[in-house]
Amino acid sequence: MTAADHLSRSALLYLSRQEHLKDWATRLRPFRDMASRFIAGETLEEAVEAVKALNAKGMTVSFDHLNEAVKTPEETRDEVLQYQRMLARIDQAGVKANVSLKLTQCGLLIDKALALRNAREVVADATRRDSFVRIDMEESAVTQATLDIVRELHAEFGEPHVGAVLQSYLRRTEEDAKALCRERVRIRLCKGAYLEGPDVAFPDKADVDANFVRCMRVLLDSGVYHGIATHDERMIDATLEYAAKQHLPRGAYEFQMLYGIRRDLQERLVKDGHPVRIYVPYGRYWYPYFMRRLAERPANLWFVMRNLVRG
Ligand code: FDA
Repeated sequence: MTAADHLSRSALLYLSRQEHLKDWATRLRPFRDMASRFIAGETLEEAVEAVKALNAKGMTVSFDHLNEAVKTPEETRDEVLQYQRMLARIDQAGVKANVSLKLTQCGLLIDKALALRNAREVVADATRRDSFVRIDMEESAVTQATLDIVRELHAEFGEPHVGAVLQSYLRRTEEDAKALCRERVRIRLCKGAYLEGPDVAFPDKADVDANFVRCMRVLLDSGVYHGIATHDERMIDATLEYAAKQHLPRGAYEFQMLYGIRRDLQERLVKDGHPVRIYVPYGRYWYPYFMRRLAERPANLWFVMRNLVRG
């Protein structure tokens, strides 16, 4: 990553947190058009159509309702209802999908007990339907609280119904991975998408990648069904190589990727017989999610700028 890439990544991640820009930016046509590559629609029905298309290609899905701007306990209730509607619709449509949930959506920044109560309702519903809730990981300020809640839910509902996400850019992650594997918590391993300081996160991409490989090995050695979430072919090759060395069969873990990113790679892995799950976000509040996707690949930004200039 060049110094310019570093700068635009930090700037985009800063902008992703500027709520006042959201309404203005989401009305711009080229911005909306570009976002539609990464977001499956603004409504549940649009997203269900996207899930059906992915299922037809042999991929499973994790569904995410986007809304990171939840401010009041009443709004957190709406999110719980939205997730219950999603779980019901997954059952009714007979699609192969589980759900991903952010604890800030459940009120983590308002009150930890409220977030636990709300998340508990969603996981209880998923358990009744024999489904699974992946608790997404957000900024490092909430890492510990998020893992505390995952552990409480895991103790109550068990391995098949709730799991965590760990980010390899965080210095603490290898220890978290070892501890969660001992407790048999299912993990999605990703690199991490938020703006973090060098005190908590590795500033150099090479260290983030090296930690990803170390943590991937911890996961694959654990005998628990985990998700390796990356579009980085070097990380995927390292995983395939390690799995072969350990004589792990296909299906001992799954690859996970984001909707709209590296579709060629998604299809190639399915063709080679690997389970692939696609993270499918939908909803009206897509601005911060979209900005994080731009930050991951500054070339995406130049594409948006070109379209904005062209009108
Ligand atoms: P890296 O960023 O090195 O990219 C490798 C290659 O992938 C690039 O060269 C490019 O080809 C392609 N690519 C990656 N991002 C792209 C983009 N936006 N547009 C176009 N091409 C792109 N993060 C988090 O903090 N908490 C979470 O809960 C999750 N959840 C999650 C679920 C799933 C299923 C995935 C795949 C990812 C996440 N993430 C996440 C995001 C993750 O932390 C990370 O930011 C992105 O996956 C990008 O990192 P890569 O591993 O792809 O590598």
